[in-house]
Amino acid sequence: MIIGVPKEIKEQESRVSCTPAAVYQLVQAGHTVYVEKGAGIESGFDDDTYQDAGAKLLDQAADVWEKSDLIYKVKEPLESEYKYFRPGLIIYTYLHLAANPTLAQALIDNEVVGVAFETVEEDHKLPLLKPMSEVAGRMAVQEGAHFLTKPNGGKGIVLQGVPGVQPAHVIVVGGGTVGTAATRIAVGMGARVTVLDVNIERLGELFNIFGDKIETLYSNPYNIKRCVQNADMVISTILIPGRRAPKLITEEMVKTMEAGSVIVDVAIDQGGSTELTENHPTTHENPTFVKHDVIHYAVANIPGAVAMTSTAALSNSTTKYALLLANKGWKEAVKESEGLRHGINTAEGYLTNEGLADDLGLDYKDLQELI
Ligand SMILES: NC(=O)c1ccc[n+]([C@@H]2O[C@H](COP(=O)([O-])OP(=O)(O)OC[C@H]3O[C@@H](n4cnc5c(N)ncnc54)[C@H](O)[C@@H]3O)[C@@H](O)[C@H]2O)c1
Repeated sequence: MIIGVPKEIKEQESRVSCTPAAVYQLVQAGHTVYVEKGAGIESGFDDDTYQDAGAKLLDQAADVWEKSDLIYKVKEPLESEYKYFRPGLIIYTYLHLAANPTLAQALIDNEVVGVAFETVEEDHKLPLLKPMSEVAGRMAVQEGAHFLTKPNGGKGIVLQGVPGVQPAHVIVVGGGTVGTAATRIAVGMGARVTVLDVNIERLGELFNIFGDKIETLYSNPYNIKRCVQNADMVISTILIPGRRAPKLITEEMVKTMEAGSVIVDVAIDQGGSTELTENHPTTHENPTFVKHDVIHYAVANIPGAVAMTSTAALSNSTTKYALLLANKGWKEAVKESEGLRHGINTAEGYLTNEGLADDLGLDYKDLQELI
């Protein structure tokens, strides 16, 4: 198969989908890999390294898109890339369609096979979301701590406090991969940490990991309201796979927070989990906005800021399915891999993910009818 690796064009997105090591694996398996010149520079991989690994370099993004059967990306295609869509083209990337009905429609109308990293599912886990969630959770606390300082508009506190002065109170809503990584860093930085989740078993696991360094609380509107009111930093990390995030943190709750507190809405890529960040994603260039004197950080591609770490972690996890798609074609690949089957969001002019179709109010087609 012919695989194309375009340079990412989303603002301040420095990752690339595929390391030279992954290119080597694909080429060894008999595939052709086109890489747009400069695609890996910001992740630490120059064009020569890709060429040595067996890639063919192309000057123009248009050539990469047009010559390839499978486009292997990181972030969702932007509107300027929709012109390359055509029937049968496979796009393997983060899509986050629940938050992007325009893209969903463009993929449907152009009969593109949209394979979303974030909905590939193995044993009820999301293996292609996990590596970036590990990064985003760590970064969420780092960024939140930065914005708690006075020069950055925050209330002016250090997470650990000092002898005689209390530490910051960090609330983590959702104790999955992002939540656990955020908890690890917040605990490491000496904050007082409370984690809320609806999954009591998960709260038990966190209790076993962190012991009495954290408090755990069942997540319901009452407990969220009480926690948010007293928080210096709220990190929202909830996920209902493939669906729009519920708005758990309301504007009324935000109004009760102290001026200069920070909310980091990591779940922004699923539409946002607070009333104020809903449909208000921010960028690395302008990462925050202030409402009711509270700083809101809602960057939808947090891992893009640490591209060297993120590219390697993402490529390690995604290569396996890229190989399967390329070796077998998408129909045979999904027959072989239940995990990949969950990843197919659109195909042959239909939405093939039921939860997503429900959220977007569009018709759903069982993938089984297409393969
Ligand atoms: N902004 C970014 O750059 C970025 C990067 C990576 C991941 N993310 C997003 O972060 C979110 C979390 O990802 P993850 O990998 O940690 O998912 P995960 O499935 O591992 O964890 C989600 C957790 O949320 C919990 N949850 C669900 N409903 C809840 C509720 N009402 N209250 C409290 N907890 C609830 C679940 O029980 C689960 O433990 C996703 O939306 C993901 O897309 C964003």
